[in-house]
Amino acid sequence: MYSVEELQQIINREIELRSKELIEKPPFELYIPVKYALEMGGKRLRPVLLLLSYNLFSDEILNALPAALAIEVFHNFTLLHDDIMDKADVRRNQSTVHKNFGENNAILSGDAMAFLSYRFLMESKSERLVDVANLFTLTAIEVCEGQQYDMDFESLMKVTEAEYLEMIRLKTAVLLACSLKTGALLANVNENVASLLYSFGINLGLAFQLQDDLLDTFGDKKMFGKKIGGDILANKKTFLLTKALGMTSKVQLNELTKWLNKKEFNPEEKILAVTKIYNEIGIKELTKRKIEYYFNESSQTLQEIPIDDYKKQQLILIGKQMLNRNH
Ligand code: IPE
Ligand code: IPE
Ligand code: MG
Ligand code: MG
Ligand code: MG
Repeated sequence: MYSVEELQQIINREIELRSKELIEKPPFELYIPVKYALEMGGKRLRPVLLLLSYNLFSDEILNALPAALAIEVFHNFTLLHDDIMDKADVRRNQSTVHKNFGENNAILSGDAMAFLSYRFLMESKSERLVDVANLFTLTAIEVCEGQQYDMDFESLMKVTEAEYLEMIRLKTAVLLACSLKTGALLANVNENVASLLYSFGINLGLAFQLQDDLLDTFGDKKMFGKKIGGDILANKKTFLLTKALGMTSKVQLNELTKWLNKKEFNPEEKILAVTKIYNEIGIKELTKRKIEYYFNESSQTLQEIPIDDYKKQQLILIGKQMLNRNH
């Protein structure tokens, strides 16, 4: 089996090659932001999960490379639009695409990436290509649904834990799950096994977004590469805020509500005040416990998959890397 590092190198090389090809043709204003986004780094988790999943059943991993590329291009497309929606200026410690090239370009280059991802996906040679394409399409629509809930929730005061979990399942977990299931489908594994890998991905994905929420408030700016407190400024109903709204004292709730309703404020002051309340009620520990819960759920699902222990360990290992991350 290939190691995670080897798979990362393989996908990085492929991305570099393919994005160089892209900028060989005009209009350069369309393709340069695509190249910028693809080459600004990132953990490459989704393509690695796809290749790893394929590698559980076959060593010919190059067969799965176009689909791996497709999923990473799709993920990066969602980030271009997400950063406009979230008014985020920094990602991976660099200016976001809309900051660097303007909003119109982030929209249009993002659109091009969405379609490019299909072009790459359709390069896959597989008996199951229709299943793969259907899953990809369903997932893409679900991500949009999740992003809509994410925005709608900004202006709601009460979001239940179940609503929050459904929102992150859609905006984040399904793409990670799709990566794993696509690897299995390309390897022509039966539906039952492919579905178990999907469930493993959903649980891991929920834990992953919880960790992202946590890092958005409590992470290290340099390591995380995004603005700390961005979610607080946008009144995002993260796990942290959703929980806090349900368990604060009356005084804390008044203070929190005051900040959520303020139209004019000093950003750093708001981040400080909300973080203080989070600290008072021990939100960090609560979130960590929830992350652990979903990690354990994912490990449980894994036990049902008919692969040898060494292979299971590889999946556990990448799961741990995803959740112990600080970036
Ligand atoms: C960011 O995903 C968006 C989320 C779903 C939290 P990643 O944390 O995988 O982003 P990169 O690609 O590694 O930068
Ligand atoms: C990411 O949610 C979901 C998608 C991009 C689809 P976030 O908005 O939390 O992701 P980051 O924190 O900007 O990477
Ligand atoms: Mg967002
Ligand atoms: Mg965002
Ligand atoms: Mg985030």
